[in-house]
Amino acid sequence: MKIYAAEDYKDMSRKAANIISAQVIMNPGCVLGLATGSSPIGTYEQLVEWYNKGDLDFSEVTTVNLDEYKGLARTEEQSYYNFMHEYLFSHININLEKTYLPNGMEMDSAKECARYDELIQSLGGVDLQLLGLGRNGHIGFNEPGDAFEKGTHCVDLTPSTIDANKRFFASADDVPKQAYTMGIKNIMQAKKVLVVVSGADKADAVRDAFFGPVTPKVPGSILQLHNDVILVADEAALSKIPKE
Ligand code: F6R
Repeated sequence: MKIYAAEDYKDMSRKAANIISAQVIMNPGCVLGLATGSSPIGTYEQLVEWYNKGDLDFSEVTTVNLDEYKGLARTEEQSYYNFMHEYLFSHININLEKTYLPNGMEMDSAKECARYDELIQSLGGVDLQLLGLGRNGHIGFNEPGDAFEKGTHCVDLTPSTIDANKRFFASADDVPKQAYTMGIKNIMQAKKVLVVVSGADKADAVRDAFFGPVTPKVPGSILQLHNDVILVADEAALSKIPKE
């Protein structure tokens, strides 16, 4: 695992965008696994800025998102579909037919999860997976539990995740209670994983995920077993890691 310490959120975003840019320049037809939430917004903004300068070309890139709320239509403001369009897809020359997210409006979970797993397979897997880290150590919506879930699955969101995500909704009651998410196997099969984390409220999660035991109680801890993980985190998020 490589750790890049960033001064602050802006610096973290710039460093992460550099890594994604390198991927797109080296392999213009790559498959990027993408995340939503506050952590990657600055990274997307930086990519858009470099795209506008003419430094990046996304025309051959394919994207697959980690997750989507179940029961939320694409047209809903809080859907991850909408998020991706708002922060990235509408601003770059990506072919929208090559941007994929789970379909939150498919109520048959088994069907949707099988479809998404097959889709990822058919793309030849993910070249670079971008991840945020939940305050409870989750990655995607793989919540703390007793076992690592493998493929795409439907999860019941934990009270802690509903509480963390209520900021995007009118109230906690409006946060969907379930989501579709790639599983740990999907994430671990990505050739490269890039984790972006910012803020003191993530310091425990960073310490536990990257320096604690590998356990499904801290889903992000599985990343210690991946052979190509880059953590880009700001000083506040790194404030509780063991000193060398
Ligand atoms: C988002 C996702 C989540 C977030 C995590 C951190 O697609 O899968 O795991 O990355 O909840 O969220 P933020 O960045 O909002 O703190």
